[in-house]
Amino acid sequence: MTAQTGKKNIIAGNWKMNLGLKASEALALTLRGLSDNLKKSEIWIAPSAIALAATTQALKGSAIRVGSQNVCAQKAGAFTGEVSVAMLQEIAVSFALVGHSERRSLYAESIDQCVARAFGAIEQGLDVVFCVGESLSERESGSTFEVVSAQLKPLLEALKNNGSVRSLVIAYEPVWAIGTGKVATTEQIAETHRDIHQLLSQYTTPETVVPILYGGSVTADNFASIIALEHVSGALVGGASLLYEKFAPLLEISEL
Ligand code: PGA
Repeated sequence: MTAQTGKKNIIAGNWKMNLGLKASEALALTLRGLSDNLKKSEIWIAPSAIALAATTQALKGSAIRVGSQNVCAQKAGAFTGEVSVAMLQEIAVSFALVGHSERRSLYAESIDQCVARAFGAIEQGLDVVFCVGESLSERESGSTFEVVSAQLKPLLEALKNNGSVRSLVIAYEPVWAIGTGKVATTEQIAETHRDIHQLLSQYTTPETVVPILYGGSVTADNFASIIALEHVSGALVGGASLLYEKFAPLLEISEL
């Protein structure tokens, strides 16, 4: 499986610890109707672990991709609370989020751990949406790209020898913009995406597409100006992905 999807925008919903089994199945089924008509966009969703199997079942045969919100680097063994790539693949999960800021800050996942998870997942055949982003104090002290690069570079180094960077999607999510209603300005997004693109170009050939998504308080009110930016290939959406009425307009904007 490869994350390279030509030039389609990826509109990814991170449902976090919301929506149980029934609610996830129901939302997946409504999105299924929507996905048939998409020409320029793909829907990726990351339901809670408990809802993954039911969601992939509900979406069988559709173009919507289902992902896990995290994944273990190791293949099997004494790793209480973790889920392996093989377990996810058995239920048709095709990607995983790794390094979300809530994992990094609330659960103390280090840069090394996030890189190991992403590398292990890609090596075993999953695509990975790897989240990077700076805190407010890091932004204010002018170290945004230093922080993002410290999160991302070790993964690019690890992947560079086997061509598997093709399985990578990057989500740039300023920590201060996640769930706060404070979206980054288009200048801030454009600048960081350009910097990430430049870093990526040191590790990829010009033909290799590594989509860079923006995340952080994306809604239908701000998405048109974000998706219009160069090097923005879609969005990772939290709050606005939980309701069809809020998510569907993002797809409409992406299709314009
Ligand atoms: P938000 O979350 O859209 O609610 O800000 C984004 C994310 O955490 O990926």
